[in-house]
Amino acid sequence: MKPLFHLLAAALLAALSGCGRGAPAAPAPLTDLAGQAARIDLAGGAYGAPLPGLSASDQARFVEGRNAFTHDETAATGLGPVFNETFCASCHDAPPAVGGTNNRLETRFGRRNPDGSFDPLTSLGGPLLHDHGIGAVPGFTFAGETVPAQANVVAKRRTQPVFGLGLVDATPDSSFRAIARVQATASPGSAGRVSAVVDAASGQTAVGRFGWKAAFATLLEFTGDAALNEMGITSPQFPNEVCPGGNCGALAYNPRPDVNDPGGQRVQQFADFGRFLGPPPAPVLAGDALRGQVLFATVGCAACHLPLLVTGPNANPALDRVAFHPYSDFLLHDMGALGDGIAQGDAQPRELRTQPLWGLSVHGTLLHDGRTSTVTEAIGAHDGQGAAARSGFDGLSAADRAALLAFLAAL
Ligand code: HEC
Ligand code: HEC
Repeated sequence: MKPLFHLLAAALLAALSGCGRGAPAAPAPLTDLAGQAARIDLAGGAYGAPLPGLSASDQARFVEGRNAFTHDETAATGLGPVFNETFCASCHDAPPAVGGTNNRLETRFGRRNPDGSFDPLTSLGGPLLHDHGIGAVPGFTFAGETVPAQANVVAKRRTQPVFGLGLVDATPDSSFRAIARVQATASPGSAGRVSAVVDAASGQTAVGRFGWKAAFATLLEFTGDAALNEMGITSPQFPNEVCPGGNCGALAYNPRPDVNDPGGQRVQQFADFGRFLGPPPAPVLAGDALRGQVLFATVGCAACHLPLLVTGPNANPALDRVAFHPYSDFLLHDMGALGDGIAQGDAQPRELRTQPLWGLSVHGTLLHDGRTSTVTEAIGAHDGQGAAARSGFDGLSAADRAALLAFLAAL
């Protein structure tokens, strides 16, 4: 137990030393909890800026990607027949930059059976509600969906920011597995587990890390799913249109029954934006906030909100063994009463992925359902594996609580 605790402490100190300075180079090589050593420390950038070190052609792809991300789809380009919004940035855009979250909520639903199992009500259009339809076409009108009466679980999901996700994408599965193993020994009460999902592109089991339920292993796959489920854009990986309200017969009236993005270029462009978008800025820490950073670790927050990860070896220098500071382990945790009741991918109804805290200060609302806008209330909602850290926070002196909050306010 002791050596592992030292390992945790060493990783934490290393992570701390990388923060608050904005300096690109670290004196000693940074190593994350999985033992992955960093080539460079990316303490942070400016909101909306591309990753540092991109080649000219990747910078061009970033700009094209951002254009696609902010471009309105229409029924003629494949939008719908049911959808949530017409372009990615209609949810993923808020000051200070495209890629942030405007806190737009979505609705998920399903049915909890008497035996406790979860039915996503697929035949009734579940589990994701599509708010809009493209309207009248010859012979049919596509309207927005409504939650069916059979649903007894209805949960809101808040839009997440997409800053820095290329780094998360470039972190090897083996790192998340190793971190879960370290947690199981060093902090068993709050230990997470990897989300084991099948990556559609490879057909292999991989570690899910994207979305509130960590249901997707790669940025490209999440993006293909988002193009289909948010906008109704079908692509080679996701060729089947959403059946409106579960009524697949209605698709006979779909004005664009073909695969809308036949070569997958549009999905690739959307994904390029997320892949090459840099992380939030490094926090500037002084005084109370510096003290709060230490309390963040001692109270147990950092056990899940891991301050340091390192990408694996990568042919692209901008993603090659880069240390970054997401404040997340991207693992699933049983959060007790904070769980949303929805099973998705490998995640059980009470499980949620640790939400990264980088960029926390620019979020308008917090938690998966946006139920609060104050950090204190967000901490207060931690239950299950997060309950001990919540009690630790509650047990701090008023001055220490204020210091911890000052640290979080700097992120
Ligand atoms: C209607 C609003 C909406 C639109 C439009 C939308 N998203 Fe999202 N996005 C969300 C929500 C809500 C989540 C959280 C999803 C979940 O876990 O259920 C999310 C999550 C994500 C994530 C995962 C972030 C993380 O931290 O793991 C990525 C990546 C993403 N969206 C990319 C896209 C792309 C690319 C598009 C366009 C093709 C898009 N989104 C369109 C609302 C939206
Ligand atoms: C057992 C793992 C775990 C521990 C320990 C933990 N958290 Fe969390 N945290 C999570 C998960 C999972 C979420 C996402 C929950 C949700 O959205 O409903 C989260 C969400 C948050 C959020 C909201 C982020 C957002 O953008 O919505 C804040 C703030 C936060 N945690 C702060 C803390 C602080 C401060 C501590 C220590 C007192 C702490 N957490 C301890 C797992 C943990």
